[in-house]
Amino acid sequence: MSFTVSTLVAALALGSGTTAAPLESRQDALKPFEVTAVSYNSPNGRPGSYPWTTIRANVTDPNGYTFTQENTVGTVPAGIQGINCEAQWYSGEYSEGRTYPCDRAEKGHWAIQVYAGTQGAFWGSDFKLKFIHVVEPGQMIQSFRGRIEGEASFKAGINGTTSYSCSASGTCGASLKSELKPLLVPVTRTL
Ligand SMILES: *[C@@H]1O[C@H](CO)[C@@H](O)[C@H](O)[C@H]1NC(C)=O
Ligand SMILES: *[C@@H]1O[C@H](CO)[C@@H](O)[C@H](O)[C@H]1NC(C)=O
Repeated sequence: MSFTVSTLVAALALGSGTTAAPLESRQDALKPFEVTAVSYNSPNGRPGSYPWTTIRANVTDPNGYTFTQENTVGTVPAGIQGINCEAQWYSGEYSEGRTYPCDRAEKGHWAIQVYAGTQGAFWGSDFKLKFIHVVEPGQMIQSFRGRIEGEASFKAGINGTTSYSCSASGTCGASLKSELKPLLVPVTRTL
């Protein structure tokens, strides 16, 4: 493997070797994603009202990435943001695990996936989001690519991460508790 994470310099300094293999074991050194916003809104189903269930999120990857192959080096800086990640579905068309986009980002892209909550079904008061950061420094080398993923639970309640409420008109909403921002989401590198 020819990729490294930002710990490359530290790994070399510690003398862990010059082959790429030892670096893979240092993936656990990746810092968690920082989720700064999550909001959920569901329609009330009344004629004339907005019919889309919507989840929006913002997330930051505090990790920088360095890829090396012979004399070529590619870097992706720390702090790349996934902004306005937005999952939307029409009434009755929830699709488990489908991938939805965030705004364009430099040197890669961000996406989110929506999953069932702790009770095994999707509820606005209990769901999970997977945050996916694909890093590509742009050197046109196939192995200069990484995919970093982290999943978090957005469940309402005393020990949950969201506040959830419904209005008199029947629309419901949830959002990440402000005292938990940024929510730290542990990550693993899957590519
Ligand atoms: C995400 O960040 C953008 C840009 O700062 C902001 O306009 C938007 O309201 C944020 N999204 C949420 C759900 O707070
Ligand atoms: C919240 O967490 C505390 C500490 O783990 C636990 O004692 C309490 O029962 C939990 N409350 C709920 C509503 O789950």
